[in-house]
Amino acid sequence: MFKSIGIFDSGVGGISVLRDAVRLMPHEHFIFYGDNHNAPYGSKTQAEVIALVDRVVEILLRRDIKALVIACNTATAAAVAPLRERLSIPIIGMEPALKPARNLRHGGQILVLATPATLHMEKFRRLMALYGEGAVPVEGRGIVECVERGHVSDGEIAAVLHGLLDEHLKQPTDAIVLGCTHYLFIKEALAAVAPGIPLVDGNLGTVRQLERVLGGLNLLSCQGEGGYELMTSGEPEVYLPLMERLMRLG
Ligand code: DGL
Repeated sequence: MFKSIGIFDSGVGGISVLRDAVRLMPHEHFIFYGDNHNAPYGSKTQAEVIALVDRVVEILLRRDIKALVIACNTATAAAVAPLRERLSIPIIGMEPALKPARNLRHGGQILVLATPATLHMEKFRRLMALYGEGAVPVEGRGIVECVERGHVSDGEIAAVLHGLLDEHLKQPTDAIVLGCTHYLFIKEALAAVAPGIPLVDGNLGTVRQLERVLGGLNLLSCQGEGGYELMTSGEPEVYLPLMERLMRLG
């Protein structure tokens, strides 16, 4: 029987993952849930994020999904372990791409831009211990709020980014890790604030991992029409058009 893949984020950030997943797996059907009403997750406690994630996962499970993609670094850091214990379907999570960014290092720092919640969780501390040499965590306060309102390349996001990064960029910087899926949509604004500095993200790694896992379990759809459905806990008339706009961006 044909089953969909569930994919979710606190808001529109996960659309950057959905976009890549649809391109890589054109025969799959995805159900995307953006918890826009409760975004941002990144300023909440781990317990609060777990409670929100449980609610979203419940909604997706009712659709009988064959796999779950947590298209959110914050939700993964907070909730992937308890979800894996509880659910029998494959779960693909995300983490800031420190490991690939290491290869770009030639003496300078690697800035790791992520939500405050991600940066303060145990999962990130473990990642830093393994791959964090030269890495400097930077809390991306204010970015998600801009992206949720569709402000991805204007003066408002530029001001937020200057406030967050200018001081750090006085030091030699070899790369910036985009440790939150919302940040994929502000690449242009970031490139203007940090010209010439490579931006590293984990999106492609995540969707390739999804493809590998589905293939390994014989669950990958290799023919027939795929597609996606969008859901939101926020106002549909606001967020569904924004999601469609972001699907077409870049
Ligand atoms: N997009 C999410 C992430 O990847 C979190 C954004 C938020 O709600 O703070 O971390």
